[in-house]
Amino acid sequence: MADSSYSGSVAVQACAESLQARATELAQSLGLELVPVNAPESDRNQHELILEVTESGLQIQPCGKGAPGPTAVDFLSGSVAHRRQFGGGKGQMIAKAVGVKGAIKPSVLDATAGLGKDSFVLATLGCSVTMLERSPIIHALLQDGLERAKADPDVGPIVEQMSLHNANSIEWMQENKDLAGFQVVYLDPMFPHKDKSALVKKEMRAFRPVVGDDLDADQLLEAALEIAENRVVVKRPRKAPYLANRKPSLQFEGKSSRYDVYPLKKLES
Ligand SMILES: C[S@@+](CC[C@H](N)C(=O)[O-])C[C@H]1O[C@@H](n2cnc3c(N)ncnc32)[C@H](O)[C@@H]1O
Repeated sequence: MADSSYSGSVAVQACAESLQARATELAQSLGLELVPVNAPESDRNQHELILEVTESGLQIQPCGKGAPGPTAVDFLSGSVAHRRQFGGGKGQMIAKAVGVKGAIKPSVLDATAGLGKDSFVLATLGCSVTMLERSPIIHALLQDGLERAKADPDVGPIVEQMSLHNANSIEWMQENKDLAGFQVVYLDPMFPHKDKSALVKKEMRAFRPVVGDDLDADQLLEAALEIAENRVVVKRPRKAPYLANRKPSLQFEGKSSRYDVYPLKKLES
């Protein structure tokens, strides 16, 4: 989709009476319908997704028969935490693509923040990361995940290096192209691929109705090349065409994805 409007219907619901005030505030700020706390399943099923306010934070829950479980931003447990502890540090492909090496820890503008996983990996490696996300719903989920992580003694200092803004990155980068300080711009737009793994299926079912397919992704690369000081890195499914038909000078290829690197200036510490 070319903008942040979502095709599916999304509503907000509190999972307990005590969370009703928070849910009401959230529904108002996002301009979404509020489903009453104890509404029957049939009311929830009028919507494609429910943004649930739970005791442990925000989560997005697809509705209907056979729907997968909820998706939340969780930097403290699960796959993201596992990768922080055992993921291979600077040896990871994303680290090589961004140029993290020795004392070099570039400042990164992640212009397609999503659930913040890639940003978190880069912040774990010592990069300061500015994240932009245009979907107000995904932004709310990510903001919630960051807030919850701040109190953790191990993860708190990492998320302190991450800042988040709700903005369309194409416009933001065009307006701020003279702003210095982003050594690397990182892009990972949605791509209509056919990955059938359970995790991708679950997250994509929550994601796609909210954000669409990012059909304006080519413009992201053009704007990124204007604002980046040292390089632009684009994450793509392994077999996907280049963004904006531009051949990168450097590539890192994994099993299912690859990183296209557009160097502008040598990175130095
Ligand atoms: C595939 S997801 C990114 C996943 C992310 N790298 C992660 O690790 O969680 C793409 C995200 O980029 C956002 N996005 C795409 N184009 C954008 C733009 N022009 N401005 C801001 N956000 C954008 C989408 O809304 C979506 O949330």
